[in-house]
Amino acid sequence: MTYFEKLFWVSFPYIMLTMFVVGHIYRYNTDQFGWSAKSSEFLEKKQLKWGSILFHYGIIFVFFGHVAGILVPKAVYDLLGVTDHMYHMGAVWIGGLAGIATIIGVLLLMVRRFTVKRIFINSTFRDILVLILLTLIIVSGFVNTVWYTGRGVAFEYRETISPWFRGILALNPMPELMIGIPLGFKIHVVSAFLIFGLWPFTRLVHVWSLPLEYLNRKFVVYKAIYSRRILMMQSNRLKK
Ligand code: HEM
Repeated sequence: MTYFEKLFWVSFPYIMLTMFVVGHIYRYNTDQFGWSAKSSEFLEKKQLKWGSILFHYGIIFVFFGHVAGILVPKAVYDLLGVTDHMYHMGAVWIGGLAGIATIIGVLLLMVRRFTVKRIFINSTFRDILVLILLTLIIVSGFVNTVWYTGRGVAFEYRETISPWFRGILALNPMPELMIGIPLGFKIHVVSAFLIFGLWPFTRLVHVWSLPLEYLNRKFVVYKAIYSRRILMMQSNRLKK
């Protein structure tokens, strides 16, 4: 194994994961007022609506697809009687549809950021970098799904990328599993780890501020401060 292979499949992921953890602690302690999605809805609404809805719904499905394909070992599917064909059909159709929604969403968001002047001049370098990286990750993931998984080409990432990823999390790196994987998957995984490292320093921190308490909170009852009768009494008084 070459020095570069070790760098890519052992050192780099751990550097990025360390930046992810330490960066979040640092940002939380130093910049709580800046911890936000930096919504630009007040600058432009129409394009944001479709871009954001498609991207967010798509990415939620993509996330659960990754849990199913990367974190759950293939042995579990074998034990449950889920054949490779059944698994790949699910990955291509459910993952593919989620991928299409996410791609359309992220492209709409990208076009909006570059073509709406008031959005562009209010964007930082980091906002644009995040969007470009997201596009690269999503497009490369989708191309891999269509090109390899969809065409039934014999590349089983559940025996290479998935155990490698779980090994990284379990502090048991197995870089040899990543040698010889197709280039598209290499680009996808490296750019995904890059975004993990940059995550705490970008607007992506808003992901951890999902207002889940809203699902369970008590209703807020809004009442008009003045009743119609009081308003009429006041206007009568004014007339006198
Ligand atoms: C290091 C972390 C990641 C690994 C190991 C990984 C691995 C993979 C693999 C193996 C596939 C092919 C799935 C299939 O064909 O069945 C895939 C697809 C895909 N990935 Fe990732 N991925 C990672 C992170 C991400 C991130 C952060 C995003 C989004 C921002 C993402 C978005 C996608 C998309 C859109 C697809 C297309 C298929 C689908 O819609 O699920 N991935 N990824």
